[in-house]
Amino acid sequence: MGGVEAGDVDHHYESSGSTLPVPSVQELAAQGLEVVPERYIKDEIGHGNDHLSGSCSPSIVVPLIDISKLLNNDDSELQKLHSACKDWGAFQLINHGVPIESVKKMRKRTQEFFELPLQEKKRLAQQPGSQEGYGQVFVISEDQKLDWNDMLIFRILPTQRRHATLWPQIFPSFRETLVDCSENMKKLAVQLMKFMAKALEVDDEELSQNYEDGNYDIRLTCYPPCPEPERVLGILPHEDASAITLLLEGGDTPGLQVLKDGQWVVVEPIDGAIIVNLGQIMEVITNGIYKAVLHRVVVNRLKERLSIGVFCYPRPSAMIGPSKQLIKPGSSPLYKTMTNAEFFHLFFTRNLEDSFINILKLDA
Ligand code: OGA
Ligand code: NI
Repeated sequence: MGGVEAGDVDHHYESSGSTLPVPSVQELAAQGLEVVPERYIKDEIGHGNDHLSGSCSPSIVVPLIDISKLLNNDDSELQKLHSACKDWGAFQLINHGVPIESVKKMRKRTQEFFELPLQEKKRLAQQPGSQEGYGQVFVISEDQKLDWNDMLIFRILPTQRRHATLWPQIFPSFRETLVDCSENMKKLAVQLMKFMAKALEVDDEELSQNYEDGNYDIRLTCYPPCPEPERVLGILPHEDASAITLLLEGGDTPGLQVLKDGQWVVVEPIDGAIIVNLGQIMEVITNGIYKAVLHRVVVNRLKERLSIGVFCYPRPSAMIGPSKQLIKPGSSPLYKTMTNAEFFHLFFTRNLEDSFINILKLDA
């Protein structure tokens, strides 16, 4: 996601990431406007097929990884995972073991939340200085271009990170579903890390252990229908800062696109599948063997789209830097090593225009 400028935020990472209040896009969409307000227009960005313009490539498909095959020690599936992480930084997971009822409940609760009247949603509104709650992320100025979405964000794990005042205000059935989802997603994240370690031929403890008690955040996003879909974006192209991001589609409306070899590729919703995006922490840890994926969201003229994203970060006591096991004799680390606090300080104080991964590189 975007960024904030130095000096605008509290530098302590647990309380940084403050964002200005913005209008609800759902409310805007409900007014039946024929034209989109100027603040959302991103004509200069283009919806094209290459990085800066064009349309999407229908013939290329995001890799599909079957966890049940990995569990059966299927070596060709492990190679598929390795290539997906190296060449794409994104893939879809099937037979992932997260119970379908759990997935369905998360979708239902997300839909129920965004269907609430605005005043009800605002009970969970972001408080000044906090990114948690109902609102938007990284809005730092009144004239900044805005994304066509509304978000609901929570820190979900470890449990002591849950917001002291917001968390108790969530409807009990919703809270229960979030707790269940947190546990399932954490389990999946740890399992995935173990397979990635195997694919990378490194000791799995080093890679996976930091996620057993890692930090996990959830972001529920509503992309309302838009009268001028080709002039806005649901989310600007960005790389996630996470190690991995696990994403559930709320339905069958496509919207997410990933950049592959300079082309935007649509991530086609597959019922029950979980999309995995690799983030910048994974790129750093693997010394660039695995890549953070650039992705964006486009919106639809008629259909709303919902998504549920879980952002997985290593435990805060772990250093963030290239794994020693992945620096081959004679080669050198390509990324800096820093504490968790240093990493998030840099993340929250960088310029919006800067490429964050370049800041993390040693020769930057
Ligand atoms: C994000 C993101 C994708 C989606 O929130 O960082 O990339 O499909 N979301 O909602
Ligand atoms: Ni993202």
